[in-house]
Amino acid sequence: MVILTEAQKKRLNRMKNALDKAIKNSSLPEHKDADPLKADKNAALSFVVWADPQISALSPLRALRVHHACRDFEGLNAEFDALLMAGDLAEYGSASEYAMLSYLLENVKGAFKNILAVGGNHDVRIRGFKKQIIRLRSFLLSFENGVPNPEDRYWFSTEIGGYKFILLGSDTNSFEGMRIKDEQLSFIKKELAGVDEGKPVFVLNHQPLKRTNGLPVTFLGRGKWRGSVGWESDKLREALSTHKNTVYITGHLHYCTSRYTYEDLGNIKAVNAPTVGVINHGPFKSYTQGLVFNVYDDKIIVRSRIFGEGKYASEGIENSEFEIIL
Ligand SMILES: [Fe+2]
Repeated sequence: MVILTEAQKKRLNRMKNALDKAIKNSSLPEHKDADPLKADKNAALSFVVWADPQISALSPLRALRVHHACRDFEGLNAEFDALLMAGDLAEYGSASEYAMLSYLLENVKGAFKNILAVGGNHDVRIRGFKKQIIRLRSFLLSFENGVPNPEDRYWFSTEIGGYKFILLGSDTNSFEGMRIKDEQLSFIKKELAGVDEGKPVFVLNHQPLKRTNGLPVTFLGRGKWRGSVGWESDKLREALSTHKNTVYITGHLHYCTSRYTYEDLGNIKAVNAPTVGVINHGPFKSYTQGLVFNVYDDKIIVRSRIFGEGKYASEGIENSEFEIIL
């Protein structure tokens, strides 16, 4: 449960009212039912990745876009093994913003067997660090199918449908990048050790590795490490490389489905998801973009979906569909 004070409840109500107004005045394209969202029943595992809903008390358009995106899951029951959210759930990290996201997902949470999320820089940047860890945990516990992080840290692992998922997160406050202490790096290596080489392990984190997924171009070309994990990027890359099929899934860049969405780094398969709630940079401007994964014994097929419009990205868009061969 996201437990709110009276003042926070008022803020949540203001956000709900602002959403109602935004729905009335919306100029977003209609949601169509022509190409309904379905998991491939022949897949061993199917899940959806959303990045950066970034619900904001000051921008009702974020909630409006997520509201539209949720329409894609209406009427689905345990269709997907999981919804994975790759961080920056809340623009200012406030309890009312987490509660708003929980409210938006309320009607469609049953479409997923599990709901998972990691924290991003926006979730921790201006708040007490320990408090924010508990906020993410409380948000996840607001769903009966939520998979909560521990009480004292962001990082942990879980198993879904026989596949390992490792969720990462900063070890201290950080404005833009993240800090990864040795304990987290050792944990990653330990978790990856002993997994069969051909079996993918899915690692969810907010920021991509340095100079991958089009960085620094995809972060508006700013600085050598900006847009990435930051200082410990090389150490993290080394840890993730200790398994042959580490599928490293991130957000943070707000960059559209493009040539940069997928990069094969050898043992690491780096996937960067566009933002579902904010404006995407790059040439493909549709709002509410995210990714749908279908996992098979020998490959993974990923498709870009415009959830709010009820359709997949068209074939002309690079990486609208891509395969990861295992
Ligand atoms: Fe971010």
